[in-house]
Amino acid sequence: MDCLVLQGGRPLSGSVEVSGAKNAALPLMAATLLAPGEHVITRVPRLADTQTMVRVLEALGAKIHWDATTMRIDTSTCSSVEAPYDLVKTMRASVYVLGPLLARFGRARVSLPGGCAWGPRPVDLHLKSMEALGATIEIDEGYIVATAPPAVGATQGSSLRGTRFTFPISSVGATGNLLMAAVLARGISVVENAAIEPEITQLAEYLVVMGANIEGIGTTRLEIEGVDTLSPARVEVIPDRIEAATYLVGGAITLGDVTITRCQPGHLAASLGALEAMGSKITINGLAITLQSGGRPRAADIATAVYPGFATDMQAQMMALAAIADGVSVITDTIYHDRFSHAPELARMGADIRVVDNVATVHGRTRLKGAPVMATDLRASAALVLAGLAAEGETVVSRIYHLDRGYENLAAKLATLGARVERRPE
Ligand code: EPZ
Repeated sequence: MDCLVLQGGRPLSGSVEVSGAKNAALPLMAATLLAPGEHVITRVPRLADTQTMVRVLEALGAKIHWDATTMRIDTSTCSSVEAPYDLVKTMRASVYVLGPLLARFGRARVSLPGGCAWGPRPVDLHLKSMEALGATIEIDEGYIVATAPPAVGATQGSSLRGTRFTFPISSVGATGNLLMAAVLARGISVVENAAIEPEITQLAEYLVVMGANIEGIGTTRLEIEGVDTLSPARVEVIPDRIEAATYLVGGAITLGDVTITRCQPGHLAASLGALEAMGSKITINGLAITLQSGGRPRAADIATAVYPGFATDMQAQMMALAAIADGVSVITDTIYHDRFSHAPELARMGADIRVVDNVATVHGRTRLKGAPVMATDLRASAALVLAGLAAEGETVVSRIYHLDRGYENLAAKLATLGARVERRPE
């Protein structure tokens, strides 16, 4: 197990390129199950999570070649419908194979994901949406067993049929699963309160390239007319808006000047708005964004929301920034009410944060002090790294395997921005 050693107090400056988005690559990889044959996906980030999805697809029988920038996934050899516990327990997003397996084979056996570092993360909406399409769902030995057998004599396909489904709350993952099942279902499905995160929009667009009929992409109301078959295709993963915003916070928290390139500025508008509210100067130039620090950040209130609102995946990083801001910031997470495991670790560095239910009140301090801290989940660990870059002295962030799940080459990219950072065995 490795840790990250940071010497803080140096402004970040320079330019860094954004990688492909983890949360777009994962559903795109799962969608390849829908159309037997070779799919080509470019700009898949090299992360622990994308590696896990490779192993899930290989466990289902896919053949995968992944060179520097291009992943070739051949799903013509898929025959198994089981996504094993050993893999699913390491990555909840493995549940994305549920819809495609059910649609292609009429059955799926996918381990229940279980909880995560900050509490229960149910999949009831994934299951309800499959039932709405006509599947039978059982839980057996910790596995979701979904069946919608195809007509007698058919070897592939399913008896899924179009439906009307309204999500009681917006869910990225469940929208993705319903989309991937409905595109091969018989008849028309109408989905209300669908998630519109850019990663879901890219998934829907890829399904259309494969031959699906989907109306309303990018809106909360989707109309999907099922087709009999889909064809393999090619897609480039969109830039990672959360990685992009994380590096910009790095510029703000170190009072630096950072440019990120090859991103989609529109995808992180809410984060840019929050950074401007906290005193940074933001300049957008095509697919590049520059943040120039305006000196010590100002305090600001932030409430997370579904896209295009402020992303919960940026909440921890902004809390680190608020920890050195001038004034009191109130940070509310409306998506995950208990996503605050980074707060006590930031307090070890001298931050003054009080959490009550899903609200954190952050009294900004002029300086944080380096300390040994422990990563607990992906975004919490990013917040600790950012705080370490701003803090006086040395910070050691342990358990950085959490970071490896979602940030490609983090230490190297930070070093190109002038950070004093070193990866060491713990
Ligand atoms: C996706 O998770 C992202 N993961 C998460 O990013 C992100 O935090 C989340 O969306 C919200 O934006 C991936 O894309 C792989 P949801 P997902 O279903 O799909 C509740 C990161 O850091 N809910 O939109 O699991 C749920 O508990 C990760 O990269 C149900 O109640 O999130 C939450 O409160 C962490 N029942 C809310 O909905 C369900 O069946 C939103 O969850 C499903 C969700």
